[in-house]
Formats: sequence, structure tokens, C-alpha cells
Amino acid sequence: MPIIYKETKDLDYERVVDIFYSVKFLKHPHKRKIYKRAIEKAFRNSQYVVAAYDNDKLIAFVRVLTDKSLFATIWNLIVSPDYQIKGIGQTLVRRCLDKYPKLHFFTIADKSVYKFYEKMGFKIHSHGMYLEKGRKVCLIYN
Ligand SMILES: CC(C)(COP(=O)(O)OP(=O)(O)OC[C@H]1O[C@@H](n2cnc3c(N)ncnc32)[C@H](O)[C@@H]1OP(=O)(O)O)[C@@H](O)C(=O)NCCC(=O)NCCS
Repeated sequence: MPIIYKETKDLDYERVVDIFYSVKFLKHPHKRKIYKRAIEKAFRNSQYVVAAYDNDKLIAFVRVLTDKSLFATIWNLIVSPDYQIKGIGQTLVRRCLDKYPKLHFFTIADKSVYKFYEKMGFKIHSHGMYLEKGRKVCLIYN
């Protein structure tokens, strides 16, 4: 079955949230409504969103934030577990890199996916810093 890629922010955000839960990036089921609202807003406010479909079924997505001059960051790259290791994650990242070919790309990644990103030319950078704010929504990256 060919996988279809679409550049769109008009996703089924209930399904998006299901996929977040499926890889344990979200934990608390009772916070689902808050998560959904925050995730949809984050996706809609991103400059670039690509999603992958098997027929009509949403199976993976990624989004990019960028200043469109120097830097771009990749966020929320997730492939539904049943569809992993089939080249879909790589295609999604490739789409992002091709969309902004002149920009420097960054991402936050758990150690378990370093190899995945290294295969795409990313290098580990040790100088990143991060300030956690008191938001109600926290996505799990480990
Ligand atoms: C990480 C993730 C996006 C990779 O997507 P994917 O579609 O499974 O990966 P691909 O099939 O495109 O993999 C491309 C290559 O990376 C390798 N790879 C994929 N995931 C890997 C991992 N976790 N560790 C090491 N190598 C990995 C594949 O074996 C493949 O190698 P090959 O080209 O030599 O065959 C996916 O596993 C996922 O959604 N994981 C859970 C969420 C997550 O951790 N997202 C990353 C945000 S930090």
C-alpha cells in the first residue's frame, strides 16, 4: 500500500493525540482535552506540517518552526508504532529539509533516536539549553 504524504495543518487532531499516546509522548488520559487543544494550536502555528497517510488513515507527522532566514527546528516527529522502520520517518524529515534547503536545522531528540537522525546527517550538539516553563502540557521525550 503506497503511503501518501500531505502538507497540511488540517489534521484529525483526535487521531494526532492518539498517536502521541501510542509512543508514550503523552501520559495522563484525563488531560486529553488540554493536550489536544495545545497540540492543535502548536501545529497550526507552525510554518510547515507534513503528515503521512495509509489510505485515509493518519499514521505519522512532523512539524517545523522557522525564522525562514537562518534556523529551523523539527518538532513532534512521530510514526505510529505499526508503521515504524519502513522509511516513513526518514521521508518526513527529508521533506522538512527539502522545504528549507538553506536553513540550519535543529531538533531535540532522545538518545534512542540519535542514530536515526545521524543517518540523515544530523550531528550531536552538546551546547543546547532548555528552560521548562509552568505550562499544563508537557510532552515526554524519554
Ligand atoms: C524515530 C522515528 C520517528 C523513526 O521513524 P521510522 O519511520 O520508524 O524510521 P525510518 O524507517 O525512516 O528509519 C530510517 C533509518 O533509521 C533507522 N532507525 C529508525 N528508528 C531508529 C531508532 N530508534 N534507533 C536507531 N535507528 C533507527 C532505521 O532502521 C533506518 O535505517 P536504515 O536506513 O539503515 O534501514 C519513529 O521510530 C518514532 O516515531 N518513534 C517514536 C517517537 C520518537 O521518538 N520521535 C522522535 C522525536 S525525538
